[in-house]
Amino acid sequence: MSDHNLTVGLGERSYPIFIEDGIMENIGEDLAKRNIASRYVVLSDDYVAKLYGSTLMATLEHAGIKAEMLTFSRGEASKNLQVFADLSRKLAQLGLDRTSGLIALGGGVTGDLTGFIAATYMRGIPFVQIPTTLLSQVDSSVGGKTGVDIPEGKNLVGAFYQPKAVYIDTAVLTSLPAEEFLGGVAEVIKYGVIRDFEFYCFLEKNLDSILALHPAIIQEMIQTCCKIKAEVVAEDEREAGLRRILNFGHTIGHAVEAASDFSLIHGHAVAIGMVAALRLAVSSGLCKRKEAGRVATLIHTFGLPTEIPEGMDRERIKAYIKTDKKSVAGSVFYVLPTTIGKVIITNELTEEQIDAVLQR
Ligand code: GLY
Repeated sequence: MSDHNLTVGLGERSYPIFIEDGIMENIGEDLAKRNIASRYVVLSDDYVAKLYGSTLMATLEHAGIKAEMLTFSRGEASKNLQVFADLSRKLAQLGLDRTSGLIALGGGVTGDLTGFIAATYMRGIPFVQIPTTLLSQVDSSVGGKTGVDIPEGKNLVGAFYQPKAVYIDTAVLTSLPAEEFLGGVAEVIKYGVIRDFEFYCFLEKNLDSILALHPAIIQEMIQTCCKIKAEVVAEDEREAGLRRILNFGHTIGHAVEAASDFSLIHGHAVAIGMVAALRLAVSSGLCKRKEAGRVATLIHTFGLPTEIPEGMDRERIKAYIKTDKKSVAGSVFYVLPTTIGKVIITNELTEEQIDAVLQR
């Protein structure tokens, strides 16, 4: 396997992340050595299954691994309790037992859904992540957040449940729609702003190569994001403290996403939320206007939105901010940069400050 390995250090639940161009074709060989499960079911949406299902099944078969595949409809609408129940029942009908494992082949929806089924089927069976979108490669496939949506909110039912391994094939990004790739870029920029100024400068310097999917640059970019995420998760698996910095841009971002009735791609809403958080940091006297402007310029130059869409109902956004599931005892928390590479978490913002960024 590649040299581009990382480990999420969680004691006996530690697991490797492999990042390699074309790794999909060799996953079977590595998985066979790991003795994670006696047989596997691959879960994937119908779109990704068509693109990569046969390559994955071929490498598993070649390595002598018994595996079947189940698919569901593409999209966030599948991340619900009904699909969770239907797939769990199918696993039982296939005769999966406690020695069996699951493989999530797809983006965030597939990873979250598969991980939650793995966390609960027979009270927990192992699972492996093969993320196929930039967003899932740099964020959701690492760290063990699993779950489904309910009508009352996204990800409100779930579990922290870590995978046994994450295989990231950077080659699959060539089939990703540009909008979705950009959505992932928003989360990539997030890592630079919250924790790594040098990486932030790397993104500024390599913007064109990133958009052109230059393999070595993409590899380095994903590697750095996963390294930061692995460090944060190893220190605070259950988001009691440090992990909350990963929510930079998400307080207002989630509210804008919800107020768009989810027509805005998550990463695009996060981009808007990051710029809003930077403006709050400036109005709080925490961050210099010039630094905030520098990040907003990078976000814009990548082609991501920086402003809340004009016609969007500001009162609706405010209502969603108040129901943010990361709030504690009714108090909403914001992750605000003090400089590029460092953030603080605060609930000491005034209503006027929030209004000012929402009304722009
Ligand atoms: N996506 C944020 C986290 O994993 O904590």
